[in-house]
This record gives sequence, C-alpha cells and structure tokens, in this order.
Amino acid sequence: MKERLEQICREAIGRIESAKELDTLNDIRVAFLGKKGELTSIMKSMKDIAPEERPAFGQMVNKTRAQIEQKMEEMKTRLARQARQAQLKAEVIDVTLPAKKGNLGHKHPNTIALDEVERIFIGMGYEVVDGPEVEKDYYNFEALNIPDGHPAKDEQDTFYINKEFLLRTQTSGAQVHVMETAPLPIRMISPGRVYRSDEVDATHSPCFHQIEGLVIDRHITFADLKGTLAEFARELFGEETKVKFRPHHFPFTEPSAEMDVTCFKCGGKGCRMCKGSGWIEILGCGMVHPRVLKMSGIDPEEYSGFAFGVGLERIALLKYEIDDMRLLYENDKRFLKQF
Ligand code: DAH
Repeated sequence: MKERLEQICREAIGRIESAKELDTLNDIRVAFLGKKGELTSIMKSMKDIAPEERPAFGQMVNKTRAQIEQKMEEMKTRLARQARQAQLKAEVIDVTLPAKKGNLGHKHPNTIALDEVERIFIGMGYEVVDGPEVEKDYYNFEALNIPDGHPAKDEQDTFYINKEFLLRTQTSGAQVHVMETAPLPIRMISPGRVYRSDEVDATHSPCFHQIEGLVIDRHITFADLKGTLAEFARELFGEETKVKFRPHHFPFTEPSAEMDVTCFKCGGKGCRMCKGSGWIEILGCGMVHPRVLKMSGIDPEEYSGFAFGVGLERIALLKYEIDDMRLLYENDKRFLKQF
C-alpha cells in the first residue's frame, strides 16, 4: 500500500510539473483527488487493512494528498504568472510610434471678417441682431418699398416656399423687424445668410451673406451716414483709406448711394486688385425712405435714419485677396488653414 501511495504521489507530481496550462492542472486534480480519483479509491480500500494500521495509513493518504495539493498550488501560481506575462507581451504598446495628430479646427475667413465687422460696429455702440432666413414676402419686399411688379423683385428672383414665404434675398428685411419692435433710437447691424437663384461662378453663389445696418434717431442726416461708414472703412482697411459715394438707386432709401474705398493694395494708384481704377466698391447705403419708416410705424416727420448693406464674402475676398468665391464654400482644409 505504501509503495502504491508513493507511486501515485510521484506520478501526480510528475504530471503536475509537466503541465503547460491551467486546464491541464484541473484534469490532474480530478484524476487524483476527485471523487473517482486514485487517492479516493485507495481510501476506499481502507477496509481491507488491519484496524490497528488504519490510522497510520490514513495519515499517509492525507500527507500524500497535502503534497499533491501543495504542488498543484505552486504550479497554478507559476502557470498563471506565465500566462499573464505572455498576455502583457502580446498586448505591448509601442509608445515610440508617432501619435495620430489631432486636427484643431479654426475660424473660416467669413467668420473672421464678420467678427471684425461686428467688433467695429459694437465699438460704435451698435447692437447685433438676428433676422429670419425664411422670410415673409412682406418683409423682404413690400415693407421695403418694393411692391408686387416692381423690377427689383425680378432682379432678386429667389426661392419661394409658398406665396407668402421665401428664402430672403437680402438682410434688409431685418430692418423692418427691428423698426416694428425695438424702442427708438435704433443702432443695429444684422448679419446673416441670404439666397438668390444665381448660378455659381467666381463671384456668385445662390447662398451668401450680408450684413445690414440701420440707424434711426431724431436729426440723423447724410453726414452721419458718411462719417460712420468712412470710419468703418478706415477701421476695416486701414487709417489711410478714403471713401467715395456714388449716387445709386435702392427702393428703400432716398437718396441712395454706393460707397467705394480706395484700394488698400495700391493706395489708389491703380493695380490688379482694383482693376486699375484705384477704387473698390464695397457697399450700398442711403437715407431710409420716409415711406419705409411710415410702413413700420415710425413718424418720418420726427425721425430719420440711414441704412447700409455689405456683402460679407466680398469683404473676406478683398481682405484676404482670394480671387474665387467658390473657395469659401469648398471646405478644403488646405485652403482654410491659411487664414
Ligand atoms: N439690400 C441691398 C442688396 O442686397 C443692399 C443695401 C443697399 C442695403 C442699400 C441697404 C441699403 O440697407 O441702404 O443689394
């Protein structure tokens, strides 16, 4: 019996030592220590032994079991450590690999130009207000003294939602919203998207941006308009900038004008930028038509005002010397990151 026990012990320990996986250890446990295992069956043969030898035999079996269990524990720890090391090795992270570059966004040239325009007017005490892009025909045309059948309505052909609503063709409608609701006096600019059914080319897009301006108070004259817009031009294009007003026609202003600035590239001598003229057209403006004031509930006998409209893209293109408007909408990062 003793030899048999020693043999079992050697065999078990031998198998444990050559085990390569934790699963194998479990099989060995079942084979030797399990309910039907070798040691268990030896215990069952106790009844064949003389009673006086039984305690010693029992002790021997227990000792053998303890030896096997201890070996098993050692091996288990060793195999677990090996498995962990293999896993760490397999999942190793190479910290010397170049990292993925995070792409930091930045402002679009339109946004930079708008920030600049807003900064200038806020500095002069203006408020920045929003207007609706889906606009009533009344605000986009009628209330601006452009009745049905007026040729200006054809020039600004647009996208109609239905008979009453359209995508606004100009930010000028924002003037009317403000005149109807805001307390007087008014000093505001209103930037936003406008739409016209134009074909895309280097200077046209069916969707672009304007910045509207409106001032209404007692005793506002054309001199206020000139002084304000000349100051705006100097802040935007440089101290040396001069302005020139050419008579023009807009239905909602009387008198109306277009303002040119001296070319900031050549200082007025004439270059490619200003097509040799020394001047660059920059905005439309005028004194708010008395009829427009009246329609919005403001008494033209008591109040007067001026208005202006600037194309935002035009400013961005000029300021950053971009020669094709389409570049502003293509979202090519190689282009955008230059500003
Ligand atoms: N709304 C005009 C346009 O889209 C621009 C404009 C001209 C706005 C004169 C004004 C203004 O407020 O007074 O062509």
